[in-house]
Amino acid sequence: MSTALVTGASTGIGLSFARILATRGHDLVIVARHRDRLEALAIELAAMSSTPISVEVLAADLAAPEQLQRVVDRLSDVTRPVDICVNNAGMGVREPFGRSAVEDEQLMIDVMVTAVMRLSHAIVPGMVARGTGAIINVSSIAGWMPTGTYSAIKAWATTFSESLHNEVKQDGVSVIAVCPGYTRTEFHQRAGMTMSSVPSWMWLDADEVVAQALKDARKGKSWSVAGRKYKAMGWAARVLPRSVVAKVTAAR
Ligand SMILES: NC(=O)c1ccc[n+]([C@@H]2O[C@H](COP(=O)([O-])OP(=O)(O)OC[C@H]3O[C@@H](n4cnc5c(N)ncnc54)[C@H](OP(=O)(O)O)[C@@H]3O)[C@@H](O)[C@H]2O)c1
Repeated sequence: MSTALVTGASTGIGLSFARILATRGHDLVIVARHRDRLEALAIELAAMSSTPISVEVLAADLAAPEQLQRVVDRLSDVTRPVDICVNNAGMGVREPFGRSAVEDEQLMIDVMVTAVMRLSHAIVPGMVARGTGAIINVSSIAGWMPTGTYSAIKAWATTFSESLHNEVKQDGVSVIAVCPGYTRTEFHQRAGMTMSSVPSWMWLDADEVVAQALKDARKGKSWSVAGRKYKAMGWAARVLPRSVVAKVTAAR
């Protein structure tokens, strides 16, 4: 059975990826900063599969270069190939750019750009050589709307994934950008964001996002959007004039 590595596996969308992949019988490498959460999760995941699976805990802060290197080394290890790499770890910043801490802006770039690029770069050669593999980059619908560093990072993640998809699809490797809308996780609470003004119909469930992502990855798509409303919103953001999208986003 194949092995999947999931970053940010301890909660939210990453946890959902880990659980669904475990139930499908994949061996797992789970990555996040908090070892205790990962160790408890490893026991839960191993019990979820009807066939025996191995769950490896790799505690690492992806913003710390030497810890990121340990994940790079794991993905480059040809003796223990990873078949599915889910770049999911991430965070947001509540304050607008002009009032935020520069360290928070940098952290987002370190985890959601630098780490995604480094981990993808580490795994692509092996996948191409084996003629199989999947890279799943969790981006956001925000990547199609101009809202600060976060949306610029997600625009990078989507464009990067589409580009890599085109580069390696003929080698049997699939790359997909997953673009969720508002999803119920710890994301907003961790960033100190108040979300009470977001109506309940706008919220997605993490399992729904992940099921759609895995379905679209299997079909060889280069991006995935869960939920009809977000499919429509994503479509509008891509086809409407940029000035209109910017105006609507600013009004929100
Ligand atoms: N929730 C939404 O509405 C939404 C919408 C669109 C896109 N997304 C994207 O979905 C992805 C997952 O977010 P989520 O909503 O599931 O958030 P979440 O519930 O807050 O989970 C974030 C995960 O990332 C890990 N993480 C954070 N900083 C890390 C670091 N420096 N090194 C390693 N791991 C780190 C966290 O674990 P530790 O704290 O243990 O490290 C946790 O497992 C993100 O890329 C986010 O941008 C979310």
